[in-house]
Amino acid sequence: MSETSPKLRAELEGIPTYKPGKPAAAGPVAYKLSSNENPYPPLPGVTESMAAAAGSFNRYPDMACTGLMNELADRFGVPLSHLATGTGSVGVAQQLLQATSGPGDEVIYAWRSFEAYPIITQISGATSVRVPLTPGDVHDLDAMAEAITDRTRLIFVCNPNNPTGTAVRRTELERFLDRVPSDVLVVLDEAYREFVRDVEVPDGVELYRNRPNVCVLRTFSKAYGLAGLRVGFAIAHEPVAAALRKTAVPFGVSQLAQDAAVASLRAEDELLGRVGSLVSERARVLAVLRGQGWTVPDSQANFVWLRLGERTLDFAAACEQAGVVVRPFAGEGVRVTVGETEANDIFLKVTEGFRKEA
Ligand SMILES: Cc1ncc(COP(=O)(O)O)c(C=O)c1O
Repeated sequence: MSETSPKLRAELEGIPTYKPGKPAAAGPVAYKLSSNENPYPPLPGVTESMAAAAGSFNRYPDMACTGLMNELADRFGVPLSHLATGTGSVGVAQQLLQATSGPGDEVIYAWRSFEAYPIITQISGATSVRVPLTPGDVHDLDAMAEAITDRTRLIFVCNPNNPTGTAVRRTELERFLDRVPSDVLVVLDEAYREFVRDVEVPDGVELYRNRPNVCVLRTFSKAYGLAGLRVGFAIAHEPVAAALRKTAVPFGVSQLAQDAAVASLRAEDELLGRVGSLVSERARVLAVLRGQGWTVPDSQANFVWLRLGERTLDFAAACEQAGVVVRPFAGEGVRVTVGETEANDIFLKVTEGFRKEA
């Protein structure tokens, strides 16, 4: 028997592994502020819908996600043919790459941005073109437009941006979209849309309506608090949405996830109340940080970004010691989710100590 292993695609070599937010340690106090999750339990009606779905685990889910698709079509005022669901919005993003890009093609995104972009781009075989954020940690849309070549197939605009929380505004985003050739797909990744309060930050769903090359990505993982169930969706014109249905993993979205998503959409009032509390807490955290002397970009998401450079890992270790787990990007900074008030207070104590030491 030969000793050679099965031939694997060369593109897989050197793919960075996705680092999930570290779980909270077992200990007297431990809060997880490392994955931009929602600190609230599921919305009313969600647990009940899941309990009902649990009786049918011997059956495959509804592959077309009919109930959820109808609810989304109503909620966003879009035709059913413009919708596609997937296993989290990262699953849908991967389908978008499968549908558009392969070896020899280029995919543009800002950097630093959502860490899945380089991974799923490399899996597709396409080449990543990373465009640095501005010194203020915002997408440099002019530079991104200049990076477009004949090979560009897809551009991610993460709005608000993970991990910096910054958002691009209507005028600059529209100017950018006007510069992108109509055969290049622009993906507006709006995983944190519900937390946006700056009225100048546009809703991608309005921008997509008269732009066939714009696709909006949304998720139930963040504001809706269903991260563990893996359901996200795209709104795009028919050819793109149809391509997403072709590239979907059959039966990828469980019935549990579909029913929970529908129940969450129906509990929107409660949802908006919770999001409002997190947004107020975000304002408090940013104000305290600034009062302590930190320079922090304005966040339109459910997290804040501290550019700590070389002190990043020390700071993350100090947070963990104090009872909160944050998300460090070595040599750059930490991203800290706005969580329970007590958790945020622990984080703010650590930042205070760090300022004093500095
Ligand atoms: C910008 C952005 N997009 C997409 C996702 C993926 O979320 P999910 O796959 O849970 O929908 C995340 C999760 O952290 C994110 O930050």
